[in-house]
Amino acid sequence: MVKRPKIAIIGAGGNVGAAVAHWAAVKELGDLALIDLKGNVAKGRGLDLTQCSAFESFNNTSFVAGEDAALMKDADVVVMTAGVPRKPGQSREELININAGIVRDICVNVKNLAPNAVLIVVSNPLDAMVYVAKQVTGFPRERVIGSAGILDSSRFRTNIALATGASIEDVSAIVLGAHTDKDMVPIVSTATVGGVPLTKLLSAEKLAEVIDRTKKGGAELTGLIGTSAWLAPGAGTSLMVESIVRNQGRLLPCSIELNGEFGVKDCFVGVPVKLTAKGAEQVYEFDLSESEKAAFAASVKANQELMGIAKGFL
Ligand code: 2OP
Repeated sequence: MVKRPKIAIIGAGGNVGAAVAHWAAVKELGDLALIDLKGNVAKGRGLDLTQCSAFESFNNTSFVAGEDAALMKDADVVVMTAGVPRKPGQSREELININAGIVRDICVNVKNLAPNAVLIVVSNPLDAMVYVAKQVTGFPRERVIGSAGILDSSRFRTNIALATGASIEDVSAIVLGAHTDKDMVPIVSTATVGGVPLTKLLSAEKLAEVIDRTKKGGAELTGLIGTSAWLAPGAGTSLMVESIVRNQGRLLPCSIELNGEFGVKDCFVGVPVKLTAKGAEQVYEFDLSESEKAAFAASVKANQELMGIAKGFL
């Protein structure tokens, strides 16, 4: 029998989880299992979404929802959005003492109930939470991936489009490193607009503004909305799910344990990976400029410090 992929979203009652569900349902990526401590909220989110399908021509009638972790049984992809979001003025790093325990406990269930799943972590502080998920599940590194670089890159691309006045469709740019305001690394050396190097299109001053706005992109939205963003985080994460369940081989920046790539070992940090049915099948290395190398090294150091704190919760 041909089966649709099963996608479990943990924290589906929250904004980011519900946004992942939204995009996944619209794209008909598979059957959704919506799980949240607030089981009725997860059920309500699923039902509300399903009622859109009459207008938007997608089929979401086969979803299950509730608080029971067993709903994730044998999922092909598990998306972890559980945990608290940051408040205005708060850094992602400050969430570690609350979210590390939450992610740890849920990952025990992921390990037991969905042992073959690709696990995508969205909870913050992102890179440290991917580390916790990898340690608790013991899954191979290609099946424990963090969703952040894809979001930071969409913010970088947006800011470049706004600054140049060019269509975002022609902007090709990525952000690597830590998912923190201080240490993420927008990569200028490879950024282009319609194949033209970004450095030819923006003055050094304008470029510095674009980089600064990108790094503080999550904080800007948290300040405006009063809680952290969800639409772009959800859309980016669903693109990762799509590349996995449709075996597309998209090359997207994701957080993964490095095994010598970029000269780094035993650290979780954002790098370009190929996402296939196997998960993060391959990490792609390329030469960074000298200043990008230094910023990437600082990113690695900051993430190692956060991993040291997270280790205390294992
Ligand atoms: C953000 O940057 C939620 O960390 C996420 O908006």
